[in-house]
Amino acid sequence: MPDPRENPRPLSIDWLVSYSGVREHEPLPPHSWYGIGGRARYFLELPDDGPLPELIGRLNTDAQPYLVIGAATNTLFAADEIPGLMIKLVTRRLSMDRDAITVSAGHLMPTLAAEAARAGRAGLEFAAGVPGTVGGSVFGNAGAFGGEVKDRLSSVEAIDPHGRRQSLAAGDCAFAYRQSAFKTTKAGWVVVSATFRTDNETPQAVRARLLEVQKHRRATQPIEQRSLGSTFKNPPGDSAGRLIDASGLKGMRIGDAQISPKHANFIVNLGGATADDVLALMAEMRNRVFERFGIELEPEIRVIGRTPGR
Ligand code: EPU
Repeated sequence: MPDPRENPRPLSIDWLVSYSGVREHEPLPPHSWYGIGGRARYFLELPDDGPLPELIGRLNTDAQPYLVIGAATNTLFAADEIPGLMIKLVTRRLSMDRDAITVSAGHLMPTLAAEAARAGRAGLEFAAGVPGTVGGSVFGNAGAFGGEVKDRLSSVEAIDPHGRRQSLAAGDCAFAYRQSAFKTTKAGWVVVSATFRTDNETPQAVRARLLEVQKHRRATQPIEQRSLGSTFKNPPGDSAGRLIDASGLKGMRIGDAQISPKHANFIVNLGGATADDVLALMAEMRNRVFERFGIELEPEIRVIGRTPGR
């Protein structure tokens, strides 16, 4: 499956260069929640997923690499220039029926949580604590404060590598902790929308729980600073934050990247952090936790263009 991190090939096809809206050598910091990144060789922002089936089919036929992003809240751009086509989905559709909400991939999870609450739809309050898009959250089975995407998802609409729109039941997406088929057997598929089951309650009751999620998040996470959320997955039965903290690393700084003094599993950008600063801190965190506890931390964030080491 084409992937810009593996087997990059020069992309020199005329149809892509002249494809409506494609930009070349696009600077990535403005597209990164972290404010970090080099450039994308080719870049396309799509407010509508209509062109995607044909585009994805064509890219695969030509064996050209592509990478789909949303708000890049969990992705570190770690190459000077990322080869291939980067597609940024900024789709914002949302519709409700009696007991479900269907929402496009580019919608932000906290906005989904707020709209659900306003309509008195319960079950998605956890989404207020997931600072990413619906597409990225399905891709990574994002979760927070007792909820995970898979708990409420009923189906996903996705484009397969042949450019066909497919509807997948949640049970066909191989969800596990921060894991889905879109990272493994369905790499190269593009999630375009998701349908979530909801229950009916009063807007006040739903909103009260949503505010609790926001309050807890503000109290425990450095949300006022730029970060990619949890840097590492929690190892079975333990917490990466606790292990990094107990290794004495809170507050450690390399360049403008800092292990948050508030939550040790967050690396915050103090202003001018580079991908190298973040990767060096990650290596330090993994080394120190391994030395002290014999536990290998696994990255939770997606690193594009480099492989995080120890
Ligand atoms: N802890 C420390 N020191 C720290 C941070 C945490 O000792 O610096 C301890 C806490 O006291 C607590 C335990 O570690 O006993 C767990 O910490 P916390 O409740 O903050 O949750 P977490 O396991 O670190 C997970 C998710 C978060 C999600 C929160 C809230 C992962 C890797 N992280 O964090 O998800 O928001 O629970 O539900 O699963 C994300 O994925 O980006 C993310 C932020």
